[in-house]
Amino acid sequence: MIYGEILAGGKGTRMGNVQLPKQFMLLDNKPIIIHTVEKFLLNDRFDKIIVVTPKEWMNYTEDIITKFIGKIEKMAIVEGGSDRNESIMKGIEYIEETVGVNDDDIVVTHDSVRPFLTHRIIEENIDMALKYKVIDTVISATDTIIQSEDGETISDIPIRSTMYQGQTPQSFNIKLLVDSYQSLTNEEKGILTDACKICLLKGQTIRLVRGESFNIKITVPYDLKIAEGLLKGESGK
Ligand code: CTP
Repeated sequence: MIYGEILAGGKGTRMGNVQLPKQFMLLDNKPIIIHTVEKFLLNDRFDKIIVVTPKEWMNYTEDIITKFIGKIEKMAIVEGGSDRNESIMKGIEYIEETVGVNDDDIVVTHDSVRPFLTHRIIEENIDMALKYKVIDTVISATDTIIQSEDGETISDIPIRSTMYQGQTPQSFNIKLLVDSYQSLTNEEKGILTDACKICLLKGQTIRLVRGESFNIKITVPYDLKIAEGLLKGESGK
């Protein structure tokens, strides 16, 4: 089985609009998360698409999906977790409880606030995850990356040609991800904010899919302005 998992369990604190988590803010008159769900629905290889969202926003999520898209049989709305990885695992728990997990099952996880992903990126994530088990989507770093341990002085300047910026989707063989996650200590779980990092720590090889520079994550208010601009460019408005 091939699952899509759209991560909308965050509060969007850096957006500064605590009343309405950023995934529900409007982008061209439509909540950001709806743009993202639509991209997933365009791919008919998904057997099920799970949206994880904060408990208090579950009904709202269902309402807007029904309003903007309609009732979709293969979608499920599931309560998210206290951090991003926990949210991923909650979606997987739902799969375990409702259908069960087979050895070859994969999940394509994606930030709800990256509404510009493409069909190509999804397709490559699915194909590569079926073949190689753990996949990350990246773009080459265009700026030089500066590392500073203390925020005051430079500790390293890595060679730019080996540097990439992580995007999503990140896709996993479900059993492999669960096994890797369960073997972490609570302290490791607290530190590891990136799901691919969990697999890396457990010695898995992670293959790369090329993202797109426009596959941006809406994090701060400025990003929403960029996103509006990108949409205008798409539609020629
Ligand atoms: N996310 C999630 N569950 C969490 C935290 C985050 O599903 N407990 C999701 C967010 O909803 C978002 C994606 O992970 O779609 C990327 O995270 P980020 O941009 O950091 O979102 P927030 O945690 O909402 O933002 P902030 O850190 O500003 O509060």
